[in-house]
Order: sequence, then structure tokens, then C-alpha cells
Amino acid sequence: MKKTITLTLNGETRAVDVEPNDILLDVVRDRLGVKSPKYGCGRGDCGSCTMIMDGKTVRSCLILAIEADGSEIVTVEGLCRDGLTPLQEAFLKHNAFQCGYCAPGMTLAATELLERKAKPSREEIQEAIAGNLCRCTGYTAIIDAILEVAK
Ligand code: FES
Ligand code: FES
Repeated sequence: MKKTITLTLNGETRAVDVEPNDILLDVVRDRLGVKSPKYGCGRGDCGSCTMIMDGKTVRSCLILAIEADGSEIVTVEGLCRDGLTPLQEAFLKHNAFQCGYCAPGMTLAATELLERKAKPSREEIQEAIAGNLCRCTGYTAIIDAILEVAK
């Protein structure tokens, strides 16, 4: 039986009818039209579906949409409404991504880290993005870009 949930998605209040087994990732992408979170593994391993939910990164493939009722959700679209953030500029400068599939999740993981800790060490950055897999870059440029912003 459908239930209406209400989210604050990238600063806008959105209401949507969901089935009890609808996944947050699918609802945000397919019903609410926000496409940066991606389906990768569907089981919490790759991080491509990462969103920030009430200030913390989550794997949206593992969350039922009804669990997110009343939550504040941020995706990359919400970070750059006024232009690229310094972190995104640093990613560009360092050519941090190739195919870009991991970029939204990586960006949100790094954003959450930098909000929690303004000057993380290289090891803390590695730990923060450890759940976000990148098949293209080898991570060095991604970490260098985050470190540059942290300075
Ligand atoms: S799709 Fe969610 S962690 Fe891989
Ligand atoms: S840039 Fe291709 S997966 Fe990271």
C-alpha cells in the first residue's frame, strides 16, 4: 500500500508516493528526477549511490524510501546550485576523474569529511572515501584534490 513521504531534497520540500519496498535511490532518481546518485552494486559495496542524509553519508541503495520520510537529503546537485564548490574545482584541477561514475559519491564523501573535519590527514581522507570505489583513477589524484582543499 502506497504511503506519501516528504523529503527535503537539495533544499526543496518534495512529497512522493512510495511503495513499502521502494528503494531511496530509485525514488530519488526515477521519481524525483535527481540523477547524480548512481546504481552500481546494489548491496552497499561501491558507494556510487551515496547521498548525504541528515548530515551523514548513506548508501541509498540500502535504504527504503519510507525510512527517509522527513529527512534532509543532499546530492551533488544540491552542492553546486551557486556554481562549483572549491572541492569540485580541485577535482577538476587535478583531473581526479575519468569516466566520472564514482564522482558524485566521492564528492559527497569528501564533502561530509571536510564538514566534520576541516583539515583531515591523508590517512583520514583515505578512510573517508574507502567505501567509494573508483575503477579508473587509482585514487591518488582524488586524494590530492581533497588534501588541497583541506589546506
Ligand atoms: S549501488 Fe549502493 S553501494 Fe553500490
Ligand atoms: S572515474 Fe571512473 S569510476 Fe572513478
